Amino acid sequence: MTRRLNRLAAIVGVGASKFGTFEDKLGRELFADAFLEMMNSIDRGINIKDIEAFYLGSAAPLSFEGQAHLAPIIADQVGLANRPATRVEGACASGGLALREGIIAIASGLYDIVLVGGVEKMTNLPTSEVTDVLAAFSDTPYESRVGITFPGAYALMATAYRHKYGLTDEQLMAVTIKNHQNGALNPKAQFNCSISDIMISRLAKIKEKGQPVPDWSSEMDFLKDLQANPVIAWPLKLFDCSPITDGAACVLLVAEHLAKSFTETPVYVIGSGQASDYSLHGRKDLTTLDGAKEAAHQAYDMAGVRPEDIRMAEVHDCFTIAEIIATEDLGFFRQGEGGRAAEQGLTARHGTKPVNPSGGLKAKGHPVGASGVAQVVEVWQQMRGEAGARQINRDVHLALTHNVGAHGATCVVHIYERR
Ligand code: COA
Repeated sequence: MTRRLNRLAAIVGVGASKFGTFEDKLGRELFADAFLEMMNSIDRGINIKDIEAFYLGSAAPLSFEGQAHLAPIIADQVGLANRPATRVEGACASGGLALREGIIAIASGLYDIVLVGGVEKMTNLPTSEVTDVLAAFSDTPYESRVGITFPGAYALMATAYRHKYGLTDEQLMAVTIKNHQNGALNPKAQFNCSISDIMISRLAKIKEKGQPVPDWSSEMDFLKDLQANPVIAWPLKLFDCSPITDGAACVLLVAEHLAKSFTETPVYVIGSGQASDYSLHGRKDLTTLDGAKEAAHQAYDMAGVRPEDIRMAEVHDCFTIAEIIATEDLGFFRQGEGGRAAEQGLTARHGTKPVNPSGGLKAKGHPVGASGVAQVVEVWQQMRGEAGARQINRDVHLALTHNVGAHGATCVVHIYERR
């Protein structure tokens, strides 16, 4: 049965903090940066008093920052004390879920103007402890307690995919190279640099220290060198992984009848899908996420569009293999063909199906609870022609976001239209 929203939500403003490592900032301060940018992005402005409710995606603020009960604290920080403020948790899909809650609140008629945000401050902890916090998003007794980390789980998927479809290292590297090229054009990105930039700076340091100079003549050479790109969980290497990141993002949703009073170019959310899946150990097939396919089906059905209609997508590339699987689960390419598509440049910024023009989680960074909302920031900028140097070179009137929690146990897909 096709589900419809009783009334659409329109995005009329967006903002994001810089992504990276910020020793001297609290998560709430990063959120304030995103919020101020969002307020300034609304073409015709807004009185803060008109914001009626707030949904916040944040995956594990208690573990990362020692701060529970984050939504009212952040609401207070940005001048929204006394509004209903609700934290939504769905592991790395917390931001996408918060967006969906905001959309449902508007569709229900309860509110007309809703703030949706996401934040995570991950770098207070050392990598080993971050790994433990993230591993707890899996089915603990059967997965993390027997040693399956996040990179480990995606390594299992990559291994299964390799076995079934003959995935090559070069296909994974093509995703890394593309996302870093895009991230190099995104001033908010944690890795605001291409693989070439990283390679050149490493070579300069090596020469300065008088060490033997590696024979790297291309980005692939660099990525194939296990000194430069060590194995994290075979077959995944350092540059197959998204980093550990601090960051925040937010968007303002309004009921469709109000949209044009805020801007001439709102972006409407026309499709929303959410699904869950078995824990990793219960799945029949590790080369696809059934939850993502189901969420995509719901979103396409609600929007009345097909995968081939989508002009660009921001997908959940927490690991390079995740982007390849996502492009298949979303119906952009047939199963087993996502790796080849990346290698052929089809998902590049000016390819036939641009994926992650922001740099994706890989290069832009992955503050887990914020990522699903940061994807929407990129979609808004691309759809309005405001993405600067990384602007896609054709009209983006339909776009999609795909946000995944844990290893696919929670999946959220949204479709956007500029009218
Ligand atoms: N990609 C590329 N380079 C990375 C990187 C990444 N993901 N993570 C760190 N680096 C670089 C750092 O910039 C640093 O470079 P420098 O020496 O030139 O300054 C170097 O690697 C060491 O950084 P460090 O922070 O000490 O790395 P680490 O070994 O502690 O962590 C990972 C690396 C891959 C283990 C960590 O980023 C990780 O766990 N990522 C996955 C996070 C995750 O699972 N998220 C949830 C998924 S949904």
